[in-house]
Amino acid sequence: MPVDVLLGLQWGDEGKGKVVDVFTPKYQVVARFQGGPNAGHTIIFNDQKYVLHLIPSGIFHPRTECLIGNGVVLDPVTLRREIEELERSGEPIRDRLLISQRTHLILPTHKLLDAASEQAKGDKKIGSTLRGISPTYMDKTGRNGLRVGDLLAPDFKQRYQSLVDKHRQLLENLYQFDYDLSETEPAFLEAVEFMRGLRLVQADQYLHDALKAGKQVLAEGAQGTLLDIDFGSYPYVTSSHTTAAGACLGLGVAPQQIKSVFGIFKAYATRVGSGPFPTELHDAVGQELRDKGHEYGATTGRPRRCGWIDLPLLRYAIQLNGVTDLIMTKADVLSGMDEIKVCTHYRTEQGDTQTIPFDLEKPIEPVFESLPGWNDDITSMRTPGALPETLKGYIKYLEEKLETPVTYLSVGPDRKQIMTMG
Ligand code: GDP
Ligand code: IMO
Ligand code: MG
Repeated sequence: MPVDVLLGLQWGDEGKGKVVDVFTPKYQVVARFQGGPNAGHTIIFNDQKYVLHLIPSGIFHPRTECLIGNGVVLDPVTLRREIEELERSGEPIRDRLLISQRTHLILPTHKLLDAASEQAKGDKKIGSTLRGISPTYMDKTGRNGLRVGDLLAPDFKQRYQSLVDKHRQLLENLYQFDYDLSETEPAFLEAVEFMRGLRLVQADQYLHDALKAGKQVLAEGAQGTLLDIDFGSYPYVTSSHTTAAGACLGLGVAPQQIKSVFGIFKAYATRVGSGPFPTELHDAVGQELRDKGHEYGATTGRPRRCGWIDLPLLRYAIQLNGVTDLIMTKADVLSGMDEIKVCTHYRTEQGDTQTIPFDLEKPIEPVFESLPGWNDDITSMRTPGALPETLKGYIKYLEEKLETPVTYLSVGPDRKQIMTMG
């Protein structure tokens, strides 16, 4: 059986968590393939809101197993908190959760290094979530990291100590950073002990066996394509492969096993943290999108920057990921706007272009086309036939320009607020 991938086409927060939860009953396994607790995936049902940082968004469905893949970086403290909070609300999480032994561990000193690096960058800071993501991936590629499987080794404590000693040298000698490890280390060591009781597995083998047995697997992305380490707006990116290829690397599945690639995007655009955002709105319309869309980060609470949809960037993301199906979220937020703008191309010193420039930081002028808006409240609509004609027109326009079908439309944050476009 094949693997399907669901990932973000913008700068994250497209609504991945919500849609993965909706799709999960069709899958026997949901697997996170990259990122870490920088992610915040919101799921709402029965008037309850959950924000998941590490646990895959399929976890609320008892017949589906959830896997944290090798491409993820894992903070034991966050994982423990997340499991315990969910179990307090009555969900028996532990039995449904598997963790790859190859997954790298985020240490308390990785978080300190993240903060020290951001402080040293001054006004060039990335706007990191300060969850230790970049230092942990640096230790992974630098071949210094500790992995989940190492938790079971008798010399884990010594190996932990030797990595901490290296980090201390960097914090003190390179960054002259003020820190107090005694505040965070005890909770880390307790969480490590907690993790030893979880299902720590050879995840690539587990997935191959599952696929061979005819099970359906959904790979859940974190962040978005424009935050990819290679293809995003470098250096204002995260440190992992957020694109479809990342699902192969982050789970150990082969490219030909991937079937559908669900690319999810908001009906407008948002970004949190620093970095270029060609269609950003600094005016009252931007504020209206932020207010109506509740655009505040699910992980850090920071206000998200808001703007219009950007077709060149979406086309780029669709191409990089081989998107087979588009999913549009938050169309309801645009209700009541007289006009919807869409960036069709950029105007640069060299002329008009739809190509993404190497350096997105250089000033480029987005050129917009204006489409008519709609006034109807669409949040309780469940069939495409019920949608206002102008919204149907907006979707048709996007499908033509992006040469990819929109197969699902989300019209509100709740699990029930979604429709299949037929
Ligand atoms: P993720 O990181 O991609 O999972 O997205 P986040 O959870 O960080 O942010 C998406 C936000 O939009 C959350 O607050 C969701 O509850 C909410 N949301 C998801 N889909 C919709 C939708 O169609 N309409 C509205 N109004 N909110 C949505
Ligand atoms: P989800 O999965 C939106 C952004 C940060 C920062 C940059 C690097 O919820 O869509 P990092 O902590 O990774 O070093 O930060 O990436 N960022 C996200 N923005 N959604 C996310 O995840 C993000 N994860 C990281 O704001 O600009
Ligand atoms: Mg999010």
